[in-house]
Amino acid sequence: MIASVLCKAILFDLDGVICSTDKFHYQAWKTLADRLGIYFDEEINNRLRGVSRMDSLNIILERSDKQYTQKEKEIFTAEKNGVYRELLKSMGPADLTDEVKDTLAELRSRGYKLSAASSSKNTKFILRQIGLDGFFDSVADGADITRSKPDPEVFLVAAKRIGVDPTNCAVVEDAKAGIEAAKAAGMMALALFGDAKGCGLEDYSLKSFSDLLNIF
Ligand code: BG6
Ligand code: MG
Repeated sequence: MIASVLCKAILFDLDGVICSTDKFHYQAWKTLADRLGIYFDEEINNRLRGVSRMDSLNIILERSDKQYTQKEKEIFTAEKNGVYRELLKSMGPADLTDEVKDTLAELRSRGYKLSAASSSKNTKFILRQIGLDGFFDSVADGADITRSKPDPEVFLVAAKRIGVDPTNCAVVEDAKAGIEAAKAAGMMALALFGDAKGCGLEDYSLKSFSDLLNIF
């Protein structure tokens, strides 16, 4: 329990950390990209990790010859989200692994406050789908912020809502943008999966979700 003295709260990214929604994001963006005749693959999808919906669209449009207006872009993101939400309906409590569920319960019993902090505006919907509605001490999501990761805003909102100083918070992230956001918030950053691992800014690299129990 290396970090238990300083740390009072653990802030979890949602997509790619608490549950896996990558394939649904991919399918929904792919549907839109195909309709617009824009090349899109899993490698480009990986660049969208932790990035806001509109910034994700702008990355996809790098491959397009056409210039789109802001209004058109808003229609495209709404279209993508419609497909994504339909796909999310297939998620259920079985999409929360025993490892994640048991680790969260153990961390809580060890006295840590637990928060979900995600750029996603679908956070509450996903938490409901996987049976974590009401579980976290605070939730901060895409609807609470004006600047998405790597800006620290979402983590600062989550910390404020539980009344814990940012310096006493740790963040678990799968996105490099999330690790950057955690460090910008003055928090300890733990990398799990994705481009968070090996990005060079993380304080710890986790082998698995339950590895948290060796740290806290
Ligand atoms: C992040 C995902 O959690 O949320 C990104 O890693 C996604 O890929 C972002 O673009 C915004 O999500 P949503 O659900 O609001 O479109
Ligand atoms: Mg993530």
